Amino acid sequence: MWVSKWLSLAQAWLASQPQLLFIIIEQSGFHNEVGAAIHVAPNATRVLKDLGCDFNSLHSVQCNRLQVWDQNAKLIWTPVVTKDLQNLLGTTDDWVLTHRVDLHNTLRNAATQKIDGRMIDISLSSRVGSVDSEAGVVTLENGTTFTGDLIVGADGIHSRSVKEIVGDHRGKESTGQNCFRFLVPMAKVQANPSTAALLSRTGLDGVHAFSGPDRRLVIYPCRTGELLNIVAIHPAGSGEVKEDSWLESGNLEQLLQTYSSFGPELQALCSMAEDLKLWSLASRSPPRTFVKGKLALVGDAAHPTLPHQGQGGAQAFEDGATLGGLFPADTRPNDVPQRLALYNKVRYDRAVTVMMMSKTDHEHRAEMLAELRQYVPNAEVPPDMFSFTWSSRPAEDARRLIEEQTC
Ligand SMILES: Cc1cc2nc3c(=O)[nH]c(=O)nc-3n(C[C@H](O)[C@H](O)[C@H](O)COP(=O)(O)OP(=O)(O)OC[C@H]3O[C@@H](n4cnc5c(N)ncnc54)[C@H](O)[C@@H]3O)c2cc1C
Ligand SMILES: *[C@@H]1O[C@H](CO)[C@@H](O)[C@H](O)[C@H]1NC(C)=O
Ligand SMILES: *[C@@H]1O[C@H](CO)[C@@H](O)[C@H](O)[C@H]1NC(C)=O
Repeated sequence: MWVSKWLSLAQAWLASQPQLLFIIIEQSGFHNEVGAAIHVAPNATRVLKDLGCDFNSLHSVQCNRLQVWDQNAKLIWTPVVTKDLQNLLGTTDDWVLTHRVDLHNTLRNAATQKIDGRMIDISLSSRVGSVDSEAGVVTLENGTTFTGDLIVGADGIHSRSVKEIVGDHRGKESTGQNCFRFLVPMAKVQANPSTAALLSRTGLDGVHAFSGPDRRLVIYPCRTGELLNIVAIHPAGSGEVKEDSWLESGNLEQLLQTYSSFGPELQALCSMAEDLKLWSLASRSPPRTFVKGKLALVGDAAHPTLPHQGQGGAQAFEDGATLGGLFPADTRPNDVPQRLALYNKVRYDRAVTVMMMSKTDHEHRAEMLAELRQYVPNAEVPPDMFSFTWSSRPAEDARRLIEEQTC
């Protein structure tokens, strides 16, 4: 069986399918890794464990709590104590904070192991132009075609593959919010008395959100505590950002100006920003289905997820884990349509629910219900996002569904 796919967070399940033949098609050359840190919730570390990932190579920091502070760094409340929630949900899977580069390398190592003498073929610097879901053909911009029994479209928010399902008319929508991202070496933070005092109050083992009325700073460590990751979400104002702004550099003056109403410790932290990036938070409506013909969409291609619940990457993992469960090594080309229908069944309602809930912050989630119900008619607003997302076991659900169908 042939599978064409572009490289994504959800790639590594491929490695467990040695009898099948896979090609990953990725536009970038991966000369420069991009992005800062990401937090990986227990539901996602569960998937990494299943894939046989080497947790040491994540160089992660355990996340023991999520705390919310005001803009003057006064503690307001602690929405999550990891241990308590783990006990409540009966899980021991960890919540970890990691650099995206470390996560990517960990997944790539898992995906490129030789199994039975065979390896996944990764085609870099190859840009997909279009997908024909019925014929199972992926056409690169340079005209080269690949034909397969299954195409996994994992091409992110600016997806080409989603066009095969929704047509050409749906563009991305701006949310009116921008996001600075930067890292500060922990040594630098500790050397400054003001920021060192802040860190001694937060500790180095959690995620901390400092919120003003319309902007916030989210701070957490990665790289075994050597780096502090800062995400700064704020109204876009006049400073517009271009598309694909992962690579756009931010302006330090603009950052400081944007957070001038925040307390002195937080301003001092912002002034240490290195490798500052500015990113416009964009969204797009989800398609009515994640599958068509031989095509399955995963990750942001299927459900472009904003960072307000920190779940986008984890959702992509769930998609990958579900496909892994639904396509064991003995899958035949004839099974594909039925398996893709199951994929949509396991993932659509759940992922679209998380996507909609991620469009806003905790206090305003209920306002998303009407929009959510346009896609998932009987949906309810999950009473608690953490319990809702942490308790999912998509790979198990997938395997159970296959068993039900075969007996
Ligand atoms: C500020 C911010 C913070 C976030 N923090 C978190 C967090 O803490 N935890 C979390 O779980 N999620 C977080 N997310 C969300 C997460 O980053 C995304 O949901 C996730 O990256 C989606 O993964 P993906 O593989 O679907 O898409 P992407 O990561 O966008 O990957 C798509 C891939 O496809 C390639 N590609 C695109 N088009 C083509 C083409 N035509 N041909 C070939 N290749 C192509 C791209 O080069 C890229 O490698 C955050 C998002 C933002 C904006
Ligand atoms: C097109 O790209 C593919 C994959 O990167 C490569 O193998 C092929 O040689 C390229 N073809 C042309 C005509 O450049
Ligand atoms: C993990 O839980 C989060 C919510 O905390 C959710 O957004 C995400 O999709 C889940 N991911 C996986 C892999 O289960």
